[in-house]
Amino acid sequence: MLRSWIVGAVAVFALALVLDSNVEGVVKDKDIPTVKEIMGGCMKSGLCKKVMSGKGDEDDQKKLFKLLGHLADNKAPEGTDDKNWKALTKGITDAIKTGDTKKVNAALKCAACHKEYKGK
Ligand code: HEC
Repeated sequence: MLRSWIVGAVAVFALALVLDSNVEGVVKDKDIPTVKEIMGGCMKSGLCKKVMSGKGDEDDQKKLFKLLGHLADNKAPEGTDDKNWKALTKGITDAIKTGDTKKVNAALKCAACHKEYKGK
């Protein structure tokens, strides 16, 4: 009796795990770039530096702000502090809304974010 209860509980738990991963698969929007893609498009490409140094044009700034704005659509890596991720990325999104590159630059705390989340 007890044995079948345990088997049942394990089965329910396994099912919950399957359902959970399914839900994430559905929610993940293909239009939202991953953090790696955002970093590649903004940082590796030199786009961020170009805009921050004033050498970019309006299109460069638009592209940069759009990409950076998607950081907040991403979740913190599995097992890290999602609350701080939200705070860091919201700061960036809020700065983007002002349209002020200086504010965006100040909100981009590269080292602080990398220390906690990069390579996780
Ligand atoms: C809100 C968090 C956050 C901020 C702010 C941030 N990064 Fe990143 N960055 C990451 C994460 C997370 C990764 C690892 C992505 C991965 O490999 O999945 C990363 C990866 C990178 C990479 C490697 C990309 C690759 O293709 O492997 C570079 C370069 C980079 N960041 C540069 C910067 C610079 C420069 C700044 C500041 C101007 C910055 N990042 C700000 C989170 C951030």
